[in-house]
Amino acid sequence: MQSGKLKQKWSLVVPGIMMLMSAFLLEACNKEQHKHPELRAGKALYNYHCAACHKENGTGMFLKGIPANIATDKNQTEIILHIKKGSQSSKSQMPVFSDMPDGEAYKIANYLLQLKRDYMNNPENRDKYLLERKQ
Ligand code: HEC
Repeated sequence: MQSGKLKQKWSLVVPGIMMLMSAFLLEACNKEQHKHPELRAGKALYNYHCAACHKENGTGMFLKGIPANIATDKNQTEIILHIKKGSQSSKSQMPVFSDMPDGEAYKIANYLLQLKRDYMNNPENRDKYLLERKQ
């Protein structure tokens, strides 16, 4: 008799513990994505979060459908929104960085716009870019 009741108790406790554990694991995962206290500058943050797709120089990968950040028409606010809230297009292949602190998204957006300015200030690049746009 007693053991039957005991079993019933455990059948509630065990799943309860497992649920708690998986909640902690998920939490750890989320934090992990943003565990990079050594990265402070916009450049380091961009290289860490964005360059795998958009390349360190921001030229993207045309053949893989990854747009060049140096060719963006977006302003600072729009870039921050794109990072944290995702694209307007539901088919976007870009991850949404909803956990990213605002300050970090701000630094990344500024760095991205800096990359664009540097690229466009180089006359050689600018002409190449204008030519590509015309085609
Ligand atoms: C897994 C690959 C991947 C990663 C990582 C990634 N992106 Fe993207 N990004 C894309 C793709 C694909 C698109 C095109 C679809 C879209 O607009 O969402 C895109 C689009 C964009 C656009 C809009 C294009 C434009 O100029 O109109 C911006 C801005 C952008 N990414 C910035 C970033 C920044 C900043 C980061 C890092 C925080 C980042 N991306 C990380 C793949 C990626």
